[in-house]
Amino acid sequence: MELTIFNLKVHGDERGSLIAIEENINIPINIKRVYYIFNTQEGVRRGCHAHKSLKQVLVCVHGSCKILLDDGREKVTVNMDTVSKALLVDCMIWHEMYDFSNDCVLLSLASDFYNEEDYIRDYREFITLLNNQD
Ligand code: TYD
Repeated sequence: MELTIFNLKVHGDERGSLIAIEENINIPINIKRVYYIFNTQEGVRRGCHAHKSLKQVLVCVHGSCKILLDDGREKVTVNMDTVSKALLVDCMIWHEMYDFSNDCVLLSLASDFYNEEDYIRDYREFITLLNNQD
């Protein structure tokens, strides 16, 4: 699976650091919605779904977590351990987030508003939809 990971530019000086994210400039998606996951309890797995058309860019702005990406053929785990690492989660990619540190804040920049109808929450349905696309 081809991973799309961006190293966001860190603007740093003696005062500290700053990262800017601009739609279709340093990430390749429109941003209609921003949400963040925090206070995740120990041992929890989040996500566990794919989207029919939504694209997201994920950035772990504090702490760390792992993200499993699965395109139906291959599974890849990405360690989200750096604030400057941005991961594209394209549509039709099953994804699961886990191993959240206590202090983890995972930011999602999403290409569309929240729409439950865009979710595929059943893994077998995900595989069936992928096979129907071929
Ligand atoms: P859920 O989809 O279970 O989160 P995850 O897939 O990351 O584990 O979402 C948790 C709840 O939050 C659920 O009731 C739907 C709601 N929600 C919104 O209202 N807006 C949003 O943008 C998102 C992502 C979730």
